[in-house]
Amino acid sequence: MMIYKIAASILSADFANLGQDVTNVLRAGADWIHFDVMDNHYVPNLTIGPLVCQALRKYGVTAPIDAHLMTKPVDRLITDFAKEGATYITIHCDATDDLEHSLQLIRTSGCKAGIAFNPSTPLDCLRDVIKIVDLVLLMSVKPGFPGQKFITEVLPKLTLARELIKEHNSDALLEIDGGVKLDNVKKIVSAGADVLVMGSALFNSADYQTTISNVRKELVLK
Ligand code: DX5
Ligand code: ZN
Repeated sequence: MMIYKIAASILSADFANLGQDVTNVLRAGADWIHFDVMDNHYVPNLTIGPLVCQALRKYGVTAPIDAHLMTKPVDRLITDFAKEGATYITIHCDATDDLEHSLQLIRTSGCKAGIAFNPSTPLDCLRDVIKIVDLVLLMSVKPGFPGQKFITEVLPKLTLARELIKEHNSDALLEIDGGVKLDNVKKIVSAGADVLVMGSALFNSADYQTTISNVRKELVLK
């Protein structure tokens, strides 16, 4: 049976009570903490950096931290996030001059390496680096803001990414990020995703546990 992971995107969490909110969402059943890093350059928004990752670790968060770097350049931040306890570090394929070098840097820093694609970016470069990635992230909204509508054109792209992963005998996980909610998770996993980022649909819900268990029920019925 396929194991799907729910990565709670803290972009929609309560930043004034972040440690507690993250603890609550993990207790409610989230598998990973998805950590959106925006630099007001690669994307038109500014969020959180390595210090906040360190603070969550110090607070006692032991779950995987899935750092999604929407920044350009990436290399210095890779080292910083590795030092501060990130588990996965994902970079956008067009945010570095030397993709292979940056992905190797993630791995030699002791983390798992992810590659991200914007909705309109083709998967072409995936073939070249698939052997050195642990995670493929497809954006299903334009990166920068929570609460946007899922772009359904990304569904066939998910299937294509899944085929590429299989074709290369890779055990990379396939993550979808943006606009994921109860009424589209079934389609998303049918298209090939196994890690679901959920931000606003989870943190803006009345009860995290109910929301997560409703999502898991949808996945069982796939
Ligand atoms: C968007 C971020 C997402 C965002 C998803 O740029 O990468 O991780 O938090 O939020 P929702 O689930 O609200 O679309
Ligand atoms: Zn993200």
